[in-house]
Amino acid sequence: MPRATVARQYDGAAPASANGHTTVQPSEGELHIDYTVKLEDGPDADQTEEAFTVSYGDGATERLRIHDYTRVYEIPGLYEEVVQHQLRCASPDKIAAVLLGVAEREGRDPHLLRVLDLGAGNGVVGEKLRERGVDVLVATDSSPAARKAAGRDRPGLYASYVVGDSSGVPELGTIVRELGINCIVCAGALGFDHIEAGSFAELWDLLPPGAMFALTVHEDLVTPGSSDIGDELELMRADENATEFVVWERFRHRQSVAGESIHYVAVGALKGE
Ligand SMILES: C[S@@+](CC[C@H](N)C(=O)[O-])C[C@H]1O[C@@H](n2cnc3c(N)ncnc32)[C@H](O)[C@@H]1O
Repeated sequence: MPRATVARQYDGAAPASANGHTTVQPSEGELHIDYTVKLEDGPDADQTEEAFTVSYGDGATERLRIHDYTRVYEIPGLYEEVVQHQLRCASPDKIAAVLLGVAEREGRDPHLLRVLDLGAGNGVVGEKLRERGVDVLVATDSSPAARKAAGRDRPGLYASYVVGDSSGVPELGTIVRELGINCIVCAGALGFDHIEAGSFAELWDLLPPGAMFALTVHEDLVTPGSSDIGDELELMRADENATEFVVWERFRHRQSVAGESIHYVAVGALKGE
């Protein structure tokens, strides 16, 4: 069984794949981790319980849930291997395309966007935005390991990375004002006991007229009555002068560990002038 050799300086390119395993060719000066990953493909695994086993070169194994973010981010390349590569997560690309699509419709150059990445993790979404010309990126995540991983794997990507629950972090409000944030993105970090919708809405309220947001939310959580985010989006929709919904698109977010499609809705919106 081939082992994965994961390079620390992840260059954003999709790793070569063979039989569900990854080989990233190392280059000089990079830290290499030798492991394979096997998804636990039992039927009916709840999304919060989806798990996999990591087998290391020394024979040790470790069972982790995808939502064990702290440990997952500690292992270089593991989040990308499981979520981006094996489960083919499309949300980072989708959210970047949605935000840039709204910007293009408004005649805004990507270089003028100043984006707060909520639940940023180790920077996969930020990297997609940077590839599309966004210069100013600020991140926040409740996991200190996420910030550490972003600094380790994507140094210099974020101008600032605030660790803390997205609700009630005063530093975030200060950053929004001082860095002139005019966009929010949040990929896969609303719902499932992650970021509360009210926290997102409070931050959105701080942004100036003409601001934009892009979210990806599980399709079961996006309708009114189904979750706090569904209710919050409905409130925004009701006040159409305040927030215009430009994009509302169901898409295949990723596959489950059992190989079934998980659909999310990508939402792109613009704040009224
Ligand atoms: C599914 S991951 C998505 C990461 C990243 N957006 C991406 O697409 O690669 C969800 C992220 O939300 C973060 N998170 C969960 N609850 C949070 C909270 N209350 N405040 C801020 N971040 C949170 C987790 O630590 C994790 O990094």
